[in-house]
Amino acid sequence: MNVVELIRRKRDGGVLSADEIGAFVRGVTDGWVPDYQAAALLMAIYFRGLDGGELGALTDAMLHSGDVLDLSDIAGKKVDKHSTGGVGDKISLHLAPAVAACGVNVPMISGRGLGHTGGTLDKLEAIPGFDVHLDEARFRRVLGECGLALIGQTDRLAPADKQLYALRDVTGTVESVPLIAASIMSKKLAEGIDGLVLDVKVGSGAFMKTPERARELARTLWAIGRRAGKRVSAFLTDMDQPLGRWIGNAVEVHEALAVLRGQGEPDLVELTLALGGEMLVLGGVAASYAEGRERIARVLGDGSALARFRRCIELQGGQIPTTRWFAEEHEKVEAGAGFVQRIDAEAVGLAALALGAGRTRKEDEIDPGAWVRLMAKLGERVEPGHHVAFFSRPRDPAVAAEVRERLRAAFTLGPTPPAPRPLIVEVIR
Ligand code: URA
Repeated sequence: MNVVELIRRKRDGGVLSADEIGAFVRGVTDGWVPDYQAAALLMAIYFRGLDGGELGALTDAMLHSGDVLDLSDIAGKKVDKHSTGGVGDKISLHLAPAVAACGVNVPMISGRGLGHTGGTLDKLEAIPGFDVHLDEARFRRVLGECGLALIGQTDRLAPADKQLYALRDVTGTVESVPLIAASIMSKKLAEGIDGLVLDVKVGSGAFMKTPERARELARTLWAIGRRAGKRVSAFLTDMDQPLGRWIGNAVEVHEALAVLRGQGEPDLVELTLALGGEMLVLGGVAASYAEGRERIARVLGDGSALARFRRCIELQGGQIPTTRWFAEEHEKVEAGAGFVQRIDAEAVGLAALALGAGRTRKEDEIDPGAWVRLMAKLGERVEPGHHVAFFSRPRDPAVAAEVRERLRAAFTLGPTPPAPRPLIVEVIR
């Protein structure tokens, strides 16, 4: 294969064959395509895009660059959920046990947080002892025993994505819908799932800031899943304010446990019913979305989803502390009085990041006990002298001043409440 010829053709708007794309991905994985040629082709794709056939071929090649799990020996359907990432998004933590409690297996492979968005893996690792690095045999055992297993990406699943993503990260080619879609779907399809519910976030705290871009990504992800013969639904959901009230790691597990005790914040509960209801339909245990939602509501109310989560934590070596396990000392933020008209979710995520709850580089250590708590959400009234947010007190007063300013500026208050906005913007089935 002549890589220069592929780069030239894509640069000029031409189409690559499935064989050429397959050979390129193998060349990257085996190391004989140098980084500069791989980066040049990624940039050409960034500008020229990929047609449906090319996108399918790229996803297939990345998917088959490593192991593809076969979970057919575990009884029942396997359905996962993927979120494109947001602020305060702890949904996976309580969604997976709720769906498992309704009879659908959830083999969930999650990622870490980067930048202003959090990652499920970091939240799980805030639970003392919780092991996210299970080998395949233990992953299967946990999944078979409690209907869910929550682990991190392994080197054996879609290794080509790891290499290509690392290159994209340093060559300005991350923000390409076909490259993002192939990256996400190659990893999800390697999980051995029957169905997938996609939660594509849109708004100030999301990767995709506009509904048009989010819709384009959702449709592209959906089409790849359908082409692979999977049952797929894609939800576009609001990320113009953080989900729930707590942002951090230990605190988000704490907030997810509240949902499992039937005491969750309305937006967390609503999204759990929606995504979970759909997962039950794709998993074939609910005849309709409405029935799926009802069943999820039932297991959140009767303690059975909570029992599943506790069992999964136990099987993965973790233990929820019985005493307070996140920072107690805190600071308070005032932003005036009035109705909350806007919350800049990205700014809230960056405030949590400054406290150590997230990382700017993959190798950064995080502080699992750091947190931000929203005392007011969109449409709520803040009385004079009341606070809009609390945050865990950092050691360095300069960090405290920075976080206070970020949070104060994240809130826009006014004399009237904003028009109500839907949490679920659109569903593609
Ligand atoms: N998440 C991924 O897994 N891949 C991307 O390219 C972007 C976000």
